[in-house]
Amino acid sequence: MSMHERTEAALKELFQEDFHIGAAVNPSSMKKQEQLLSYHFNSITAENEMKFVSLQPEEGKYTFEAADTLISFARKHGMAVRGHTLVWHNQTTGWVFEDSQGQPVSREVLLERMRSHIHTVVGRYKDSIYAWDVVNEAVADEGDQQLRPSRWLDIAGPEFIAKAFEYAHEADPNALLFYNDYNESDPLKRERIFQLVESLLKQGTPIHGIGLQAHWNLFAPSLEDIRAAIERYASLGLKLHLTELDMSVFEFHDRRTDLLRPDPSLLERQAERYESIFRLLKEYRDYIGSVTFWGAADDDTWLDYFPVQGRKNWPLLFDEQHRPKPAYERVAGVASAGSL
Ligand code: GLA
Repeated sequence: MSMHERTEAALKELFQEDFHIGAAVNPSSMKKQEQLLSYHFNSITAENEMKFVSLQPEEGKYTFEAADTLISFARKHGMAVRGHTLVWHNQTTGWVFEDSQGQPVSREVLLERMRSHIHTVVGRYKDSIYAWDVVNEAVADEGDQQLRPSRWLDIAGPEFIAKAFEYAHEADPNALLFYNDYNESDPLKRERIFQLVESLLKQGTPIHGIGLQAHWNLFAPSLEDIRAAIERYASLGLKLHLTELDMSVFEFHDRRTDLLRPDPSLLERQAERYESIFRLLKEYRDYIGSVTFWGAADDDTWLDYFPVQGRKNWPLLFDEQHRPKPAYERVAGVASAGSL
């Protein structure tokens, strides 16, 4: 891969008075994107390496190697680390919920497994990870139930959420603890997330922030919905992080596979969209502590596999050769306009 010689302004410096600029990384991107990552970003998140299945694939057998490498990478480059994620319905191995006969465990056993996992993981990274996504995606997108069906919910009941926060707080009283979800700007889901977090706060649960995943595209959500979500969540008095920002060039239900590269007009639309979003984020900089992209450059994005397997997407600020895209220029412009 040709290495782009960097003369452009570093995002982390452009926004240093506003928020952290983060990227999700993986073992391969830390190698091939090291120059890009260290130049522009001052925060990282593990794309997969800190999920339950990665850290404790079998009961009591912890595999910390890949996660430790990420911590060393952050240390080498003076970056903050956001931990992702402790309790989720995905990427969690079946053993967590089952006994040796494959039958569901009791509520007590499940909560004890959760406690022990959280204490081990959060305890290990106490000095390196300042914020954790404690519970990921517990709220339902549709239907009339507030919480999505999951084995956590089935076995432990809705209190599994508060318990996860309590255990994380015991393990590291200094860590900032987040509830993290997607479709966070959709008005219906926004209200559900708001109510969940509000009720956690009323019970005295140690929760400090809401993570807006921000897997957005050129068409949705609208700026008005994003603004309304930021205001609503901020009204709880919590910190907000954008945790997984990317900007797919396809509408979510669009399954077309004929686009082989983005043409200038598409890149221009993406640039305009990123610009207006960063204007908004800057406006709310008092509430927003961190903006993490789900990846750093278009050569490594989960959207190449989802929702259409093998279809290339170009959702980030840097292209496949790690060169700044028009979207980078416009985002950088927002930062400098603000400081005039
Ligand atoms: C969700 C999860 C992330 C990641 C993305 C897709 O948003 O929170 O960890 O798995 O899906 O890559």
